[in-house]
Amino acid sequence: MSALRDRLRGIVVVASALTTVTALAQHAPDRAAVASAHPLASEAGIEVLAAGGNAFDAAIAVSASLSVVEPFGSGIGGGALFLLQPAGDGQAVMVDAREKAPGAAHRDMYLDAAGEPIPRASRDGALAAGIPGLPAALAHLAERYGELPLERSLAPAIRQARDGFPAYAGLLRRIESRSRGMNAAARKAFMPGGALPVEGQLLRQQDLAATLQALADQGRSGFYGGRVAERLVAGVRAGGGIWSTEDLADYAVIERPAVTGQYRGAEIVSAAPPSSGGVALIDMLNMLDGFNVAGLDRVGRVHLLTEVMRRAYRDRAVYLGDTDFVDVPIARLTHPYYASGQSATIRLDRATPSDALPGVSLPPTGPGDQTSHFSVLDSRGNAVAATQSINFSFGSGFMPADTGVILNNEMDDFSIKPGVPNGYGLIGAEANAIAPHKRMLSSMTPTILKSARGIALLGTPGGSRIITMVFLASLAWIEGGDAAAMVAVPRFHHQYLPDVIEYERGALDAATLAGLERLGHSPREVGRGYGDMHVVTWDTETGAVDAASDPRGIGEVRYTTR
Ligand code: GLY
Repeated sequence: MSALRDRLRGIVVVASALTTVTALAQHAPDRAAVASAHPLASEAGIEVLAAGGNAFDAAIAVSASLSVVEPFGSGIGGGALFLLQPAGDGQAVMVDAREKAPGAAHRDMYLDAAGEPIPRASRDGALAAGIPGLPAALAHLAERYGELPLERSLAPAIRQARDGFPAYAGLLRRIESRSRGMNAAARKAFMPGGALPVEGQLLRQQDLAATLQALADQGRSGFYGGRVAERLVAGVRAGGGIWSTEDLADYAVIERPAVTGQYRGAEIVSAAPPSSGGVALIDMLNMLDGFNVAGLDRVGRVHLLTEVMRRAYRDRAVYLGDTDFVDVPIARLTHPYYASGQSATIRLDRATPSDALPGVSLPPTGPGDQTSHFSVLDSRGNAVAATQSINFSFGSGFMPADTGVILNNEMDDFSIKPGVPNGYGLIGAEANAIAPHKRMLSSMTPTILKSARGIALLGTPGGSRIITMVFLASLAWIEGGDAAAMVAVPRFHHQYLPDVIEYERGALDAATLAGLERLGHSPREVGRGYGDMHVVTWDTETGAVDAASDPRGIGEVRYTTR
C-alpha cells in the first residue's frame, strides 16, 4: 500500500463523513408488511394490524407469538432489543430489554476453586438464566407506543399457546437434541406424554398461555409480580439459581438512542450497547469507506471485508460492555477518523494475522444459531426492527414449574473469565465481566438503513455471526439489491479469533478459496447455511413496500393494506 494511496484514502474518508444523507421524500407505504421466522408469527402481526393496531402493536403480537411457536430461539423467558422508528422525521429509539444479571451474581460465579470455568455452568440450568426483559418490553411498547390494549396484541399468542400449533421439523429436531439437558417441566412442555411429538401434531402450552394471560391482564406486574413471579423465583431457587423477587420487581427496560453512522449516502441506525452490533457494523462500514470496493474482484472483496470484520471484532472484545457499568467509547469507535486509522493497517495483498493486532488472544469454541429477528412496517410508516433471544437452543433448558416459561442462558454472554471465550468463541475483556444487575453484551443487531432509496429494516439470529450477516446484507441494499437479495447474500464471517474465515456451503467458490489462501487466510466451511434474516423495505419515493424472509428458514412474509 503506497503512502499516496494512504493519503488519498484519508481524503475519501473525510469527504464521505461530510456527505449528508439525502432527505427522505415520504410517500406513504402502499401496504404494511411483517417478516418473521414463522408464518404464524407473521400472521399474528397482520391480525393486530387489521384490528387497527400500528407497527408497535404488531411487534408485540409477533414477538409474543415467536415465544410460543419458536420456543427454542426466543421467548418471554429472555430478552430483546427493539429498534423503533416512528413515522415522520422522528429519531429512532432502542428499547433495551436485555436480560440483567441477578443481584446475587458475582464476577467469578462460574469459576471453580482453582479459578477455572466450570464446564457448562453458564449454559445449563437455572444458574445460567438472566432476569428476563421481554415481558417488560411488551408492556412498555403497548403503554407508550401502541394504539391497542396489550390484551388485544397478545391475543394471537395466547390462542396459539392454548389451542396449539403444528409441530414442525426444525422444532422437533431441536427438542430432540436438547431434551436431555432440559428439566422435568421443560420436557413435559415440549414432549407431552413423554414422547417427541410427530410432525403436524398440535403442541399446546397451557402454562405458557396462562402466563401470557397474566401479562395481558395485569401488564408487567402480571409477570414481574404476583403468582407468576413467585413461581419463577421458587423454581429458579429450587433449581440452584439465585434470582430474588426484587430482581424481577426491579427489572425495567431502558430507552437508549440508537447508534448511527453513514456510508455512501446511506444512514445506518442500529443497536446501541449493551449490544456490540451497531458499533461494530458502523465501524466496519466506516473502514470500508476508504476503499474502492466496487473495483475489487471477488477475492479482493472477500479479503477486504474479512479484514474489516477482524478489526471490528477485536474492538468488540476489548471495549464493549453495558454502558451503565463501563465507559464504552461509542463516539470514538463509530467515528470515521478512528476507522481511518484501523484501515491504514489493512493490506490488500496480504491477510493480517489476528495475533498481530494488539488485544486478547486465546483459543476458541463453537458458534450458535438461535435467537429470532422480525421486521414490521405499518401503512403510516411506523417501523420496527427487533431481535429477541434466549441465547442457545431452548436457553438454559430450565422451565420453572407451572409457568410455561423456558428460561434463557444469556449469562453465558458475559465474559465468564475475562480472556476466556464464551460459547460463540467470543473473547471478552473486563468491560463485559459479570456484575450484579449488569446487562451482558449482545451481538443482536436490529438495523434500519435509510437513503434516497427509502428504508430497509433488517436483522437476524446467529450468535457472533449476526453482525457480519447484517453487514453483508446492508452492503447488498446500499449497493442496489432488494429485500430478496439481502436475505440471499452468501455469508462468510471473521470474528478476530479464531483466525479463520467461516463460510456457509457455496458462499465461496474454489477459485475464491484458493485466492484467499494465497493471501494468507484460512477459510473453513461451517455447514449448509446459517442465519434467518427477515427484511422489510419501503421505497419512500414511490411508496412500494417489499419484504423477504430468509430462504434458509421457514419464515414467511405477510402483507396487509391496513
Ligand atoms: N444471545 C445472543 C446475543 O445476544 O448476542
